[in-house]
Amino acid sequence: MRDWSFLIREALKAREAAYTPYSHFKVGAALLCGDGTIYRGGNIENASYTPTICAERVAIFQAVNQGKREFEAIAVCGGPEGGELQYCAPCGVCRQVMREFAVPKQFRILIARSPEEFKEYTLEELLPESFGPDNLKQ
Ligand code: THU
Repeated sequence: MRDWSFLIREALKAREAAYTPYSHFKVGAALLCGDGTIYRGGNIENASYTPTICAERVAIFQAVNQGKREFEAIAVCGGPEGGELQYCAPCGVCRQVMREFAVPKQFRILIARSPEEFKEYTLEELLPESFGPDNLKQ
């Protein structure tokens, strides 16, 4: 199995940038692109609550806006501010966003508590029978 500790370390760094004055639940994500580049994201909350965006989508949208379209894996780590990290699984919206840009059977999702302690899934496992770009091809 591949050593993902480098990507999980990036997610831990990304978590430091999270803006979470309401939930105090900090999440970091690090997205590995096909060309080896890594994009980080931390969740960003809002006083109006619903505009809040998850760490995963911050990382993915940054990459997409830099022209990246091939994605290999994303590492996610989250937990309460000042507390222990838990296994923080991506929400349904983020899984669907991943689906837009990832090959479901190949894309890896690493849900980490530390660089050594993590669970590894494919997107296919976390979002089976999904709806994607191919559904809209004529
Ligand atoms: N959150 C993420 O950033 N990613 C996840 O995978 C789950 C939840 C954020 C959204 C919100 O800022 C906070 O965690 C509590 O829901």
